[in-house]
Amino acid sequence: MSDASRPIAILGGTGPAGTGVALRWARAGETIIIGSRHAQRAQEAADSLKEIIGDQARVSGMENSAACAAADLLVLTVPFEGQAALLKQLKPAIRPGSILIDATVALAAGVGGRASRTLGVWQGSSAQQAAELVPKGVAVVAAFHNLSAEFSMVTKISIAM
Ligand SMILES: NC(=O)c1ccc[n+]([C@@H]2O[C@H](COP(=O)([O-])OP(=O)(O)OC[C@H]3O[C@@H](n4cnc5c(N)ncnc54)[C@H](OP(=O)(O)O)[C@@H]3O)[C@@H](O)[C@H]2O)c1
Repeated sequence: MSDASRPIAILGGTGPAGTGVALRWARAGETIIIGSRHAQRAQEAADSLKEIIGDQARVSGMENSAACAAADLLVLTVPFEGQAALLKQLKPAIRPGSILIDATVALAAGVGGRASRTLGVWQGSSAQQAAELVPKGVAVVAAFHNLSAEFSMVTKISIAM
């Protein structure tokens, strides 16, 4: 059984993948923190989700490092091309013993290729790359790569970029 008081922080949670899982989990009663490089964008995404779910939804928005500091269950939903740099930046903020769920897909589109192709990652996968970049003692899990944001109502959310 989940502990709904344990927040789930979604880093890069302002995009379709992050808001998609956030919507589903918040509807299920989980406490969600939307992370973004910009606190205001995170707050706007959180407000948009609350408009859909209702004021009872436990959704807030924070800059990514503040989100890491506030939660030990983290979900990473950024484009592969930004994954390594973001994890290096967030490393000091990730709490010891945290779990990081990596949903990033190494799409060739990130380097000018086709969205239907993936890149080879030297470490084996994007999650294995993430595992090299997080602090010691942080567990990395790969998940949600084939969970399409299209199947949620989230495409109706419009977040100012
Ligand atoms: N879309 C889907 O259906 C889906 C399904 C499964 C897996 N995925 C994977 O999930 C990840 C996110 O997908 P998405 O469609 O939500 O992507 P996205 O909209 O391109 O990016 C998600 C968020 O990541 C942040 N971001 C963008 N570039 C960044 C960078 N260089 N450094 C740090 N943060 C950056 C942005 O948030 P801020 O500007 O607010 O920081 C953006 O809103 C991708 O790796 C994708 O392959 C997507």
